[in-house]
Amino acid sequence: MIEVKNVEKSFGDIKILKGVSTVFETGKTNLIIGQSGSGKTVLLKSLLGIHQPESGTICFDGRVYRDLNADEKRELRTEIGMVFQGSALFDSMTVAENVGFPLKMFTKDNNKKIQERVDFVLKRVNLTDAHKKLPSEISGGMQKRVAIARAIVNNPKYLFCDEPNSGLDPNTAILIDNLIKEITEEYNITTVINTHDMNSVMEIGEKILFLKDGLKAWEGTKEEIFRTDNEAVVAFVYSSNLFKKVREAYLKE
Ligand SMILES: Nc1ncnc2c1ncn2[C@@H]1O[C@H](COP(=O)(O)OP(=O)(O)OP(=O)(O)O)[C@@H](O)[C@H]1O
Ligand SMILES: [Mg+2]
Repeated sequence: MIEVKNVEKSFGDIKILKGVSTVFETGKTNLIIGQSGSGKTVLLKSLLGIHQPESGTICFDGRVYRDLNADEKRELRTEIGMVFQGSALFDSMTVAENVGFPLKMFTKDNNKKIQERVDFVLKRVNLTDAHKKLPSEISGGMQKRVAIARAIVNNPKYLFCDEPNSGLDPNTAILIDNLIKEITEEYNITTVINTHDMNSVMEIGEKILFLKDGLKAWEGTKEEIFRTDNEAVVAFVYSSNLFKKVREAYLKE
């Protein structure tokens, strides 16, 4: 469980996060949604320790990040897997080398053990014969699978994904969403996903935090989001006609 309390983050004079509080639950896919520029990536990078909020606390299962010493912070970072916006694979490394990289960096595992673990996670994301390929030789959906495999290779307690299905066709996007949800449940990970995709909300929105201009405007579940009267949420969700119809159907029930 990650508890976020009153987090504020500015760049220069401009305050981006204006006091965000929420709880991301263990074993669930927690979504951060909101328009472009609402602060989703800044919040995720704050969880990751890339940005230092000027006030507020972020607490990882009882460990308040700002109170940890350098060793404890390093230890915590090894418990976090990250899927960056756009996959961010190393172009000149093969798929297997990409996936094994965190183990080489953060563990003392020998090559045989690394290979076994790489085989296991690549199989888990349904990629069995791409080991020797370069990222440029595989499809966008396969690249996302590799990025997910790399993020979970070190058995993370926390998994952060920034727009994991951007740039994918709707069917592949849903497959990737569901893969992340299955892995989250299977390994009891606290997963936080940034998205502005309403399909993701419908598929895997177990806990949803809606950000607007750096503030929490609403939070709830996918069942609740279609019933809320919150104006900002309604405007965001029903920018698509399809979801207007879903809402009408829900409200008739
Ligand atoms: N390193 C930075 N320095 C200055 N301003 C930044 C920095 N990173 C983000 N911002 C600003 O913070 C605001 C929120 O950006 P953020 O990337 O969190 O949006 P987002 O919700 O992730 O949007 P998108 O859906 O487009 O990814 C934007 O106005 C952005 O310009
Ligand atoms: Mg972003």
